[in-house]
Amino acid sequence: MSENIILTGDRPTGNLHIGHYVGSLKQRVLLQNKGDYDKMYIMIADTQALTDNAGNPQKIRNNVLEVMLDYLSVGLEPEKVTFFVQSEIKALPEIMAYYMNLVTLSRLLRNPTIKSEIKFRGFDNENKGIPVGFANYPISQASDITAFKANLIPVGEDQLPMIEQTREIVRSFNSTYKNEVLVEPKAYIPENKICSRLPGTDGNAKMSKSLNNCIYLCDDKETVKAKIRNMYTDPNHIKVTDPGNVEGNVVFTYLDAFSTMEHFEKYLPEYKNLDELKEHYKRGGLGDVKIKNFLNMIMEELLQPIRERRKYYEKRLPEVFKILQKGTIEANKVAESTLAEIKEVIGINYFDDEKFLKEQEEKYNN
Ligand code: TRP
Repeated sequence: MSENIILTGDRPTGNLHIGHYVGSLKQRVLLQNKGDYDKMYIMIADTQALTDNAGNPQKIRNNVLEVMLDYLSVGLEPEKVTFFVQSEIKALPEIMAYYMNLVTLSRLLRNPTIKSEIKFRGFDNENKGIPVGFANYPISQASDITAFKANLIPVGEDQLPMIEQTREIVRSFNSTYKNEVLVEPKAYIPENKICSRLPGTDGNAKMSKSLNNCIYLCDDKETVKAKIRNMYTDPNHIKVTDPGNVEGNVVFTYLDAFSTMEHFEKYLPEYKNLDELKEHYKRGGLGDVKIKNFLNMIMEELLQPIRERRKYYEKRLPEVFKILQKGTIEANKVAESTLAEIKEVIGINYFDDEKFLKEQEEKYNN
């Protein structure tokens, strides 16, 4: 029977936000609580974060424990999940080195996520150029996943090309070296498409720290309220009586992602469901303040317990640090053992291979 191994990770470039929550964290907590797995790993991808932050390591350093606090605050449990730091796993770059020979340069640059990130970061203009390490990060990510033989990867939709490329590398490796050591992973993305790519509060397609359009899991009540108050809606919906547009209206997009029937019963019983609310908005006669207040109550219901848990762990930072350190030691052993298998199937495990010397000696024995 093959094992069920879950692995995913985040770059520690800032605190995690509600886009991370609906896109992936929520799925992780559900998977954790279902318990239908043999192992669950969550990696803080500091090495990957450096691929476009080489000049700003302090930012990465400052966010490692922040991301750990975010993990614990959403309810991920150290008894059920192994948390680790990417840069400490010595086998990862070595495994990557062997994969680099199986991928062409043009294939790397055709990766849709890499393509759009190159644009987003301006690597294609201002004479900046594309760092080699950056273009290479899909291979590095394939190493992260396969080192743990993970088969299920809970990620947002933007990561699908990374998983696809990992699958290609696995197939190529297994067929080149005629073995079955590596496992092809599958992405696990939310059913609700909107959750997979939540837009920013300003309507920009991407929620991103650099665009300053995020609601962070650690934002306090007043901050969240202010961000929702300033949220992009329909610029032509000026008077309450005006008919309004729900497409591209961020409040409605967030309601699509976060609201449930229970929320309507509890906070807005005059509407049966979101469709009814949308209809009223489109007809006219429904003001932005009302829908924003509704969204705010939903957000508070979600964020309040997250903030409480965070406060608990913020006061116990040495404990949090220990959790990460312990997980990293464990992860190192697992990756080391996969590396040994990889070297064995390639046939470069000279000192662990009893056949090696005999085989070479034979050349001179007759
Ligand atoms: N690329 C992911 C992100 O930007 C982070 C990541 C690194 C990752 N290695 C991974 C995710 C392995 C899943 C599996 O969010």
